[in-house]
Amino acid sequence: MTLQTQRELGPLNTLALPGRAARFARIANADALRDPALASGPRFILGGGSNLVLSGDVDRLVLHMAIPGKHLVGEDAEAVYVEAGAGENWHDFVQWTLAQGWPGLENLSLIPGTVGAAPIQNIGAYGLEVGERLQSVTAWDFERQAFVGFNRDDCRFGYRDSRFKQEGWHLSGRMAITSVLFRLPKAWQPNCRYADVAQELAARDIAEPTARDIADAVIAVRQRKLPDPAHMPNAGSFFHNPVVAAAQADALKAAHPGLPCYPQPDGRVKLAAGWLIEQAGWKGRSLGPVGMYEKQALVLVNHGGATGHDVKQTMAAVQASVREKFGVALTPEPIFL
Ligand code: EPU
Repeated sequence: MTLQTQRELGPLNTLALPGRAARFARIANADALRDPALASGPRFILGGGSNLVLSGDVDRLVLHMAIPGKHLVGEDAEAVYVEAGAGENWHDFVQWTLAQGWPGLENLSLIPGTVGAAPIQNIGAYGLEVGERLQSVTAWDFERQAFVGFNRDDCRFGYRDSRFKQEGWHLSGRMAITSVLFRLPKAWQPNCRYADVAQELAARDIAEPTARDIADAVIAVRQRKLPDPAHMPNAGSFFHNPVVAAAQADALKAAHPGLPCYPQPDGRVKLAAGWLIEQAGWKGRSLGPVGMYEKQALVLVNHGGATGHDVKQTMAAVQASVREKFGVALTPEPIFL
């Protein structure tokens, strides 16, 4: 483990925002975290940088999690158990499980980022959240100077939420997730409830899809709708889909019949932020170098040369438009550093 100083972080965040880390270390194995040089001072744990808004230079120790490895841990009558290092690329890991004949994660294909970051915001897409397939998480706790384990219940998963966020560990850098253990049930059922995926399979004339077919459909839908960060820097959905009281959703629906509404188990209603942003006039519109993507208004894109300040300006303008037109507050999804 080598400590670097003044390390440029632009290539390590998918919005391609500039900023330098005062101190930086690449963590290639879990035991490197025991190094006393990492124990004190402000810290930030960096994964794939795909859910991050960099405000500028970072006066902290940035630990870039690059722990590799993926293997079958065991199996029982119900499931196979597969473990992966925090630094594994998420999409490559999902494709590897499918190639091994272990379905279960196919709906989460092509999500940017790393395995270790996946539980923090409980990544989800097309009717599946990672928490549903997760058995446990191992992390290094800098405060206790020990490895700690969290089973699924300990992780307190919610919509784009987990204990790692609730406790503020994703900001304080107290916990560095080192590996994740997945439970992939053997009684596999295709999950094609989501309209975009169902339509893609129908267009391909596939009535009884395999997990591979679903992965291919998800990849096609994502490639059509979402910009590739390598060509157009972005951080995926920039806002959460807002969850509002049923009465507010009813009133909005009466005034705007096209508004997509998704009733939640707790009686509240999730609204489509992308629709709200589009109706507020922001689809394909920019303020300076930062705009909302022309094919999916929920995705904020850097058209080139943007700083964190530019991102915050566009974010605030979009929030103000949506608040003014619909009375709905939009909460950003990424972490601000
Ligand atoms: N919509 C519009 N205009 C837009 C965008 C969306 O009218 O510009 C409408 C769509 O027509 C649809 C609804 O809004 O009726 C929902 O859109 P979509 O299916 O594209 O999904 P989303 O709610 O915008 C969420 C996740 C995505 C995930 C997709 C698919 C959040 C914040 N985002 O997006 O996750 O891939 O569903 O499951 O929950 C991410 O978190 O980075 C991410 C990409």
